[in-house]
Parts: sequence; structure tokens; C-alpha cells
Amino acid sequence: MAMLTILLLSKLLSLFSKFAVATDTITQSEFLEDNTTLVSNNGTFELGFFTPGSSSSPNLYVGIWYKNIPIRTVVWVANRDNPIKDNSSKLSINTKGYLVLINQNNTVIWSTNTTTKASLVVAQLLDSGNLVLRDEKDTNPENYLWQSFDYPSDTFLPGMKLGWDLKKGLNRVLTAWKNWDDPSPGDFTLSILHTNNPEVVMWKGTTQYYGSGPWDGTVFSGSPSVSSDSNVNYAIVSNKDEFYITYSLIDKSLISRVVINQTKYVRQRLLWNIDSQMWRVSSELPTDFCDQYNTCGAFGICVIGQVPACKCLDGFKPKSPRNWTQMSWNQGCVHNQTWSCRKKGRDGFNKFNSVKAPDTRRSWVNASMTLDECKNKCWENCSCTAYANSDIKGGGSGCAIWFSDLLNIRLMPNAGQDLYIRLAVSETAQQNQDEKHSSKKKVVVIASTVSSVIAILLIFIFIYWSYKNKNKEIITGIEGKNNKSQQEDFELPLFDLASIAHATNNFSHDNKLGEGGFGPVYKGILPDGQEVAVKRLSRTSRQGLKEFKNEVMLCAELQHRNLVKVLGCCIQDDEKLLIYEYMANKSLDVFLFDSSQGKLLDWPKRFCIINGIARGLLYLHQDSRLRIIHRDLKASNVLLDNEMNPKISDFGLARMCGGDQIEGKTNRVVGTYGYMAPEYAFDGIFSIKSDVFSFGVLLLEIVSGKKNRLFYPNDYNNLIGHAWRLWKEGNPMQFIDTSLKDSYNLHEALRCIHIGLLCVQHHPNDRSNMASVVVSLSNENALPLPKNPSYLLNDIPTERESSSNTSFSVNDVTTSMLSGR
Ligand SMILES: *[C@@H]1O[C@H](CO)[C@@H](O)[C@H](O)[C@H]1NC(C)=O
Ligand SMILES: *[C@@H]1O[C@H](CO)[C@@H](O)[C@H](O)[C@H]1NC(C)=O
Ligand SMILES: *[C@@H]1O[C@H](CO)[C@@H](O)[C@H](O)[C@H]1NC(C)=O
Ligand SMILES: *[C@@H]1O[C@H](CO)[C@@H](O)[C@H](O)[C@H]1NC(C)=O
Ligand SMILES: *[C@@H]1O[C@H](CO)[C@@H](O)[C@H](O)[C@H]1NC(C)=O
Ligand SMILES: *[C@@H]1O[C@H](CO)[C@@H](O)[C@H](O)[C@H]1NC(C)=O
Ligand SMILES: *[C@@H]1O[C@H](CO)[C@@H](O)[C@H](O)[C@H]1NC(C)=O
Ligand SMILES: *[C@@H]1O[C@H](CO)[C@@H](O)[C@H](O)[C@H]1NC(C)=O
Ligand SMILES: *[C@@H]1O[C@H](CO)[C@@H](O)[C@H](O)[C@H]1NC(C)=O
Ligand SMILES: *[C@@H]1O[C@H](CO)[C@@H](O)[C@H](O)[C@H]1NC(C)=O
Repeated sequence: MAMLTILLLSKLLSLFSKFAVATDTITQSEFLEDNTTLVSNNGTFELGFFTPGSSSSPNLYVGIWYKNIPIRTVVWVANRDNPIKDNSSKLSINTKGYLVLINQNNTVIWSTNTTTKASLVVAQLLDSGNLVLRDEKDTNPENYLWQSFDYPSDTFLPGMKLGWDLKKGLNRVLTAWKNWDDPSPGDFTLSILHTNNPEVVMWKGTTQYYGSGPWDGTVFSGSPSVSSDSNVNYAIVSNKDEFYITYSLIDKSLISRVVINQTKYVRQRLLWNIDSQMWRVSSELPTDFCDQYNTCGAFGICVIGQVPACKCLDGFKPKSPRNWTQMSWNQGCVHNQTWSCRKKGRDGFNKFNSVKAPDTRRSWVNASMTLDECKNKCWENCSCTAYANSDIKGGGSGCAIWFSDLLNIRLMPNAGQDLYIRLAVSETAQQNQDEKHSSKKKVVVIASTVSSVIAILLIFIFIYWSYKNKNKEIITGIEGKNNKSQQEDFELPLFDLASIAHATNNFSHDNKLGEGGFGPVYKGILPDGQEVAVKRLSRTSRQGLKEFKNEVMLCAELQHRNLVKVLGCCIQDDEKLLIYEYMANKSLDVFLFDSSQGKLLDWPKRFCIINGIARGLLYLHQDSRLRIIHRDLKASNVLLDNEMNPKISDFGLARMCGGDQIEGKTNRVVGTYGYMAPEYAFDGIFSIKSDVFSFGVLLLEIVSGKKNRLFYPNDYNNLIGHAWRLWKEGNPMQFIDTSLKDSYNLHEALRCIHIGLLCVQHHPNDRSNMASVVVSLSNENALPLPKNPSYLLNDIPTERESSSNTSFSVNDVTTSMLSGR
């Protein structure tokens, strides 16, 4: 018996000498193991066992990769969920005609499962990269019993079909690898929406992340750069059996693939560059902020380069103006005027040029209708909200109409298509109607006109008054304005001292979270179990009360997802307390400046944090009703919630500027060494540009993972000087935090350094403003070259220090000084 096995084995093994010469097929009597591979006929692809990522990993997978490319590029994996741990596993065809992967214990690791009556099944690796099972006796070699192209991994190869085989009920979807050394399915997928108005969509789990917009005959409405790629021919096939997208390469000698990557949450087309022997990204989606699915909500439109990026389509207004101004746009917009279906003067269509057409889930297409027929079709049905040509080739043809909410619209300058949106259009017809109304109505109209005139006058008076008082502490402005309605405006709950003392264990040392500029911060647990942070103003601080009141009033006014939320306050006896939401992950400095914690902040997280801080600061500077200058932005004032979302805290130093006032002068220099702009540190001049400076320092710290105060002997002794030198020497990559290793996107990181340097330029007028920072972070616009930064902070001349009575503490604690200027 044993003899027989050995004989059989040696017979089998002898077969393998043939394998070494490379074959593209295995039959039912052959198998593949760790040291043998299949190579497609013309040598383009290879199938075999591989170890992903770092070769030290114990996991083995069966996969397909390019044979002629020095960088192992795996395009398909069989046992994605189930790695093999031993190297004596075998891939073979069993008696049922399944392709199976079994380990040394004969346990099935992975298997195909198409039942067949074929007696002679072979597995063949084709030159397209498709691994197929065929019946050797079948005269039609394209009758596949099974094919790997039906079960894609993360890669879309030429000739592959993404979408539906309706007969088999098979939907071919791309699923990203979890990360570069783990091919198991991640939560990032790409699929085709099965409507008669096809659209490519990407998902993060069950949440839609991207929508391409409909196919407009030549390209996908929202991704012109992708589908107009001159190397690639896309086709959409839709019939009763099949519904899919596929592509071919025009120049067959090119090596090109589409892959989705969960590390970066992008879909990329990569092209092999023979000269550099590297993959080059030829297109990437999403491209920018506006590409994220439905950024602006229903009837909103996203415009890159505009701040804020979302606005309502003409004729629509924010559903929740309060949420909208806080840049929370997902509630979207509603008709601005009352709209009545099919009522003359109250219903019509407005043309919008160069837009990405809306999400196609609730849409309908008839390719043989004209635009006029299309308009009538839409007009007839009261739930129809828009129409357009379904094919824009040759001046346009066909009809696409949309029902109910229009989602995911963005402006596509020089691209996109014309969209006709239904709204109340005819202003004149409306006036006529108004005139027919009774005189009683007219009186109301006149009364309301008179009251608006009065309101406008009052506003002018207020603006004039605040202008006159602009050098006063703004807090008085609020008090004055609010005298009458103090109760209404002061919406913050007032907490009782005893309950806060109880919540914080009587301000015990164990509950202390840290020490801010104006006093310690404690963690507390309210009776209902809610965790809070309590800031206790130091009783000794002479100026404390003013800052405290300032902060409370400001925080009552300000709400933004990147600002820390104030839950209430307590003013009792000598105590002044602020109660904030508790941030599970403390503050940014805890992670950033610690070599082990720093590893937890990979590049995508850091980039999110940078964007969040930028938006929060932009809100303070520009979009909140009052213009706020923070004056003490730094890593320890950026708190992180449990999902590592950044929230700017500590408005104690912020000072409001009424109206158009963007600059002020103070005789109290308050801020933190290392983050202060020179004009503020030396001359007490603060402006939004001094905040921008602090932001720039913070940005450089986030990218480098180093404190600005660290000593760089050859670089003016600080991080800014260090960044500037590396930048000038054309070596900014060296500036990037080494613990980011491969997680960073080089392009994004370099852009951040560039933006950071633009923010720390010596002259305030040269520095960017936050609006352009936000745009530059999410966009590809050309950036100006930075001028010399301010790295003078460490060179404060000693005489100046004593004469101006300014001193800076050497640690990171906020310094507040009364200088005698
Ligand atoms: C499995 O690994 C061992 C030790 O590294 C090696 O000697 C053996 O040849 C490998 N077997 C195959 C099939 O590669
Ligand atoms: C593969 O490994 C087996 C077992 O280690 C060995 O007997 C065989 O000769 C190897 N084949 C090749 C082609 O290296
Ligand atoms: C095979 O079976 C043996 C004995 O049950 C076990 O120790 C070993 O871990 C198994 N190997 C694999 C790869 O499952
Ligand atoms: C074949 O495998 C697929 C995917 O694992 C599974 O959904 C399907 O039910 C299986 N079919 C049979 C006949 O086992
Ligand atoms: C191999 O075959 C594929 C598919 O037919 C073709 O696209 C490719 O150019 C061929 N490669 C070589 C090196 O002949
Ligand atoms: C995803 O992209 C990152 C950054 O470019 C890269 O390091 C990583 O290898 C990619 N992941 C996969 C699975 O290819
Ligand atoms: C809404 O309609 C009014 C009156 O027609 C117009 O003055 C106003 O500008 C519109 N608002 C928006 C946001 O379109
Ligand atoms: C505003 O946003 C909050 C939180 O997302 C939501 O609960 C609330 O319903 C929104 N308001 C309106 C009017 O939609
Ligand atoms: C599409 O439009 C044409 C022309 O108006 C019409 O004849 C045809 O019936 C329509 N098809 C459908 C499915 O509505
Ligand atoms: C309007 O269109 C919707 C969506 O296709 C459909 O359900 C509804 O029946 C249509 N209404 C009329 C009156 O045709």
C-alpha cells in the first residue's frame, strides 16, 4: 500500500519537471504547490502561491500576478478569507470537477463549486489574466465552467465585466484588500447600479461614498477625466441577460489596471511605466471634496473653489439654515418659493449648465425621445423634478428624467451636462397674481415692507455703533445687545456647584485631565452617566472673569463639528466653571509628539485632522456670524473625539471683531511660545493672519510629528526653519514623519508642507487665509511659492525682552502678560 502511494507520488512528481518549463494548464491528474506556477501562453500572467506584504508573514495565498513586472502585482486572490499556514498545500481539480485548494491535512481551504457533468476538466490561465475551468472535450473553448473574472478581487482588468450576469444572478463587484499585506475583503467596494441609467458607485461598508453620475453617452457625468482617458475604451452592455461595464486598451502593448485601495479610499487607474519600472497613477477617484457622495444634500450643488463649497441650487434654500451655516449640509435644500405642480407661473424648468447629473436611483431613461418630449414627460408627472438628454453626443438625444430629491449634484466646469430642474420660475406671473389679491393683503405687504426698512435702518445703526466701538472689548457689545433678551440668548444650562463638585470627585487630583492657560481641567461624570470635562478658572487669575465670560458667550453662539461643544457653565461663589463635552482621546499633542502614540495617527487620520482644524478655524474666521480670532491655536488645544475627529477648544482668548474688522491691537499679549506670529508676539497686533500663522505651525508639526520648539541647530533653531531649508533644497520629503512609513500619500503630504509654509510667511499679507487653505487642501489648484517664513521667534533680543516687559514661559503652557505698551 505504502509502496503504491510512493510510486504514484513519484509518478506525479515527475510530471512537474514539465511544469518548471511553464505551462498554462493543469489537468485532473496534476496539481500545483508552493514552488510551481502556471504561466499564461504568452507569458503575461502567472498563477501560484504568494505571501503578501512583508515576506515574513506566515500567510500563503493562491493568486494571479503579472509575470513580467519586477514589482509583484497581484490582480486576483483565490483564498482571500482563508490564508494557508503551511507550504505543503496543493491546488488541484477534484473528481467533481472543482478546483480545490487543500492543506496537508486534506482540509479544503478554498474551492470553486460549479457542478458539471464534464469528465475531463482542465484549469487554464489565459493571457487576459482570467483563470478558467473548461471541459477538455467541449469544442467551444469559450464555454467556461467557471472563471476567476466572475469573482474579482480588487482589480479590474481589460476584458473583465463588472456588473450583472442576470441569468446566473451573479453581481461582479470589486472589493478592496484590507491593507497591503492582507488581501481579505475590506469594507471598500465598487459596483454598478442596476438601473437603466447606469452609474458606478463606491461604498464604505453600507454607506455610499462616491457616485459617478449617469453615463451620458461618452463619459460618466461626474468623472470625465476617467472615462475620456484616450488609452481606454469603455463600453456599457445592457440586455436581458447581462448588464455590465467593461473596457479594452487601445494600445494593446500598454499594461494598465484599475484597482481600489482601502488605505486611501480611492479607485485608481495605474499604468506601468517601462522607463521607470514603476506603476504610475493615471487617474484617481474621488478627485476632490465635491466628489464625495451627496456632500451638499438634496437640491444642493457642490462647487470646488467656492467657500463654503455647498450652496443651494438657484430657486432653493437651505432646509435648516442653522445647520447649513454650520457646514452641516446633509439636510439639503427645499424650494425657495411655494411650488405648485402644473400650475401656470408656479411651475417650470430652469436650465443649469455644466453639472454632474444627479444620482440615478430614482431616474428613468428612454433613449429615443427628444428633449421636448422629455420635458413634457417630466411636466406630466408631479414627482418628476428634473430632465436632461440621456446622451449628449452630437447636440444631445434621448431622455433621462429624475423623481423626488436630486442628490449628488456638483459643478463640472468645462464638462458635465445641461440639466433642467423643476421649480417655481415665472416671477412676472407671480406678481400678477399678487395684484389680484385683496387690498387687505396689500396693507400687510406694505406693513412688512415698512418693517423691513426699519429693520435695515436698525442694522445700519448697529453696524455704525459697533464700528465706533471696535477697539473696545467686544464682550460689552454682546452684553449691550442682549440686555433685553438675556434669558433667551443665554441658552447654556447653568450647573449647580455642588453637583459639579460631586461629578469631579470634589476636583480630585485623579480626575485632573490637564492644566490650561486659565486653570485646570477635570473629568467628571454627571448623575445621568454623561462624561464631561470641567474647566475650573483659577481663582487667582485677575483677568479670569473676563476671559471666562467671553468664552461662555462665544461658545453659546458657535457650533461646528470641529469646535468643542460647551454643555453649560457654573458661576457660584468664587467659582467659575465651564462644562464641555468630554473628548475620549484627549488632545492632539498627546499623540503627535509621542513616538509610540504617534504611530496610531496614520496619514489618512492626520489629513482628516488637518482638514477638520482648517474648517473649524475657517468657521471662526469667516462663516460664523461673528468673526472670531482664536489667538491660541496649538496642538494641545485641538481635542480628539473617540473617532479622532479634531475639535478646536479653548476660546478663552478669542476675541470677536464686529463687522469687517479683521485686525486689532491689544496691550495684553496672550498666546503660546512657538505658535505666535511675530507681529503679535512683538507688537501685540493680532489678526486672522496671526491665527493662520499658528495654523501653519500646527500643520508643519502634524506632518513632521515634531514640536516647533525642538532645537534644529542649523535651521534658525526651529521647525519652521527646518522645513524651509528642506523645501528650498528640494528635499521636503525628508520633513515627513518617519513613523508614517508607507501610510502617507506623498502628494498630499508635500502639499500640506507647501500650504504650511504659505501660512508662516513673515508678512501677514503674504499668508493665505483659511478660506484658501480649505480650498487648497481639497483641491489641486496651483499654489504660489512661499516667501521667507518667520523664524525669528527664537531670536528675541534680550534688550527688547526686558524693555517691553514681555516674557515667554519655556514650557508649553499659555503665557499671558500685561505688557507696559
Ligand atoms: C516548504 O518549506 C520547507 C522549509 O522552508 C522547504 O524545505 C520545502 O521545500 C518547502 N516545500 C515546498 C513545496 O515549497
Ligand atoms: C517542489 O518541492 C517539492 C517538495 O519539496 C520537491 O520535491 C520538488 O522537486 C520541487 N519542485 C520544483 C520544480 O522545484
Ligand atoms: C494538521 O493536523 C495536525 C493534527 O491534527 C495538526 O496538529 C496540524 O496543525 C494540522 N495542520 C494544519 C495546517 O491544519
Ligand atoms: C458556491 O459558492 C458561492 C460563493 O461562495 C455560494 O454563494 C453558492 O451558494 C455556492 N453554490 C453551491 C452550489 O454550493
Ligand atoms: C499576450 O496576450 C494578451 C491577450 O491576448 C495581449 O493583450 C498581450 O499583448 C500579449 N502579450 C505579449 C507579450 O504578447
Ligand atoms: C494602497 O495605497 C497605498 C499608498 O499608495 C500603498 O502603500 C498600498 O500598498 C496600497 N494598497 C494595496 C492593497 O495595494
Ligand atoms: C428666494 O426667493 C426670494 C423671492 O423671490 C428671493 O429674493 C431670494 O433671493 C431667493 N433666495 C434664494 C436663496 O434663492
Ligand atoms: C440639524 O442637524 C441635526 C443633527 O444632524 C438634526 O438632528 C436636525 O434635525 C437638523 N435640523 C433640521 C431642521 O433638519
Ligand atoms: C420611448 O419613446 C418613444 C418615442 O417617444 C416611444 O415610442 C416609446 O414607446 C418609448 N418607450 C418607452 C418604454 O416608454
Ligand atoms: C410618476 O412617476 C413615478 C415614478 O416613476 C411613478 O411611480 C408614478 O406612478 C408616476 N405618476 C404618474 C401620475 O404617472
